[in-house]
Parts: sequence; structure tokens; C-alpha cells
Amino acid sequence: MSDLLVAGDLEKEYRGGPEPVRVLRGVNLTATSGEMVAVVGASGVGKSTLLHLLGSLDRPSGGHVLFDGEDIFARSENGLARFRRTEVGFVFQFYNLLGEMTALENAMVPALLQRLSRAEAQDRAEAALQEVGLGDRLSHRPGELSGGEQQRVAIARALVHRPRIILADEPTGNLDPKTSEVIFDLFLRLQAERGLTFIIATHNVELARKADRGYRLVDGRAVPWS
Ligand SMILES: Nc1ncnc2c1ncn2[C@@H]1O[C@H](COP(=O)(O)OP(=O)(O)O)[C@@H](O)[C@H]1O
Ligand SMILES: [Mg+2]
Repeated sequence: MSDLLVAGDLEKEYRGGPEPVRVLRGVNLTATSGEMVAVVGASGVGKSTLLHLLGSLDRPSGGHVLFDGEDIFARSENGLARFRRTEVGFVFQFYNLLGEMTALENAMVPALLQRLSRAEAQDRAEAALQEVGLGDRLSHRPGELSGGEQQRVAIARALVHRPRIILADEPTGNLDPKTSEVIFDLFLRLQAERGLTFIIATHNVELARKADRGYRLVDGRAVPWS
């Protein structure tokens, strides 16, 4: 198995405030194709910052991210947008679903952004919702779903454009322990059945141990553990 994603000497400094904040000071991290990698660390240590860089939602101050051997930040803005649209599925702590849209419509969004036909987008979204166990909730709106169900809609949405990697930022941070385990086990099943690669940021060390490998973010660097 080869490395799907490699972060090398990744740095991030935020310069908005009175003093620059150096959050990442040379992070080295890899994810092999089909692997589940956890990133743990206390609140404020830079987990979200790191995932944003890995998914090209933000640009690093230094270092590089290789995806399938390609330096993604050498791409144009359009090229980066295409990278996000095709290769990456994002899952967030607060689900980020659109409240006025049904589960099905929410899950269709990335497929529509990829310019698939409405019929194809709908077929894929239905299949993804079935896969996460929500086949009987297609026309429910987020407000009519539990937290765990909303996160499963968000996971279906993250799958629908068939990305190669899922970046999940505190995906269980808003869920009770039992539901957290259900969501993590769903990730494990998707990893086993689809061969998907995962990078999951969490402060839940117990869940993180279910991953194949992990890193602890400390002082702006990623220290491996296994
Ligand atoms: N856009 C931003 N501008 C300035 N500082 C930021 C920004 N985003 C995050 N930070 C700072 O970077 C640090 C790491 O934040 P974050 O990546 O959200 O950590 P974590 O996800 O591990 O809680 C924090 O000190 C936070 O205040
Ligand atoms: Mg965070």
C-alpha cells in the first residue's frame, strides 16, 4: 500500500491578531491508502487547522501536502477547488447540514457540485443514505433528526461524490458516548467495505485507539503513536 497523503514540514501561522500565532511548526504525517489515522490533542492545539490544510480549505505558511504524489498547493485556486470536490469528503463536529433541505437533498449537494445529473445525484445520495442506515429518513429535515442521525446524513454527504479520503474533524464531539461509538464503527465499516482512507481529529483517545495509527499534536508537531 502506498502513501495517499503526505504532509511534510507543514507550518501554519495566523497573522490576523496583534501577535502572529504559530499553530503548526513542522508537522509530518502520512496516511496510506485504506488506512484510518487518528489525530489527537487537547483543545486549541491545532487539529482543525491541520485538517483544513490537509483538505486545502486553507493554505499553509510553509511545508507541503502531497496527495497521490502531487503537491496540491502547487495547483491554482480552481485546481484546489476541484481537488476538494472530487477527492475529499469532509465531516464536521456540528454536521453543517442545510436546515431547510431534506436529508436526501443535503446528501445530493456534492454530487450536484460535481455536475452530475439530478437523477444520478439522487440515486447516489439515496444509496449513501441507505449505506449509513438512514434509508427510511430521506425526506426528514435536520431538525427532525437526532444528533447521531444528522451526523450520518453528513457522512452520506461526504461519500456521495466518491472521494478517496475522508477528513473528519471531531465527528463525535457533539454526541453522547454510545452514539459516538456507533459513528466511529460506521467509519470502520466504510474503511473495510470501501477501502476509504480516513484522517480523524478527536480529543476522544479511547475512540482514537480504534484507528490503525495515530498522532498526538504537541507544541505544533505531530508525534506518532500506534
Ligand atoms: N482563523 C484563525 N485566526 C487566528 N487564530 C486562529 C484561527 N483559527 C485558529 N486559530 C488559533 O489556532 C489555535 C489552534 O486552533 P484549532 O486548530 O482550532 O485547534 P483545535 O482544533 O485543536 O482545537 C488556537 O489557538 C486558535 O485560537
Ligand atoms: Mg478543532
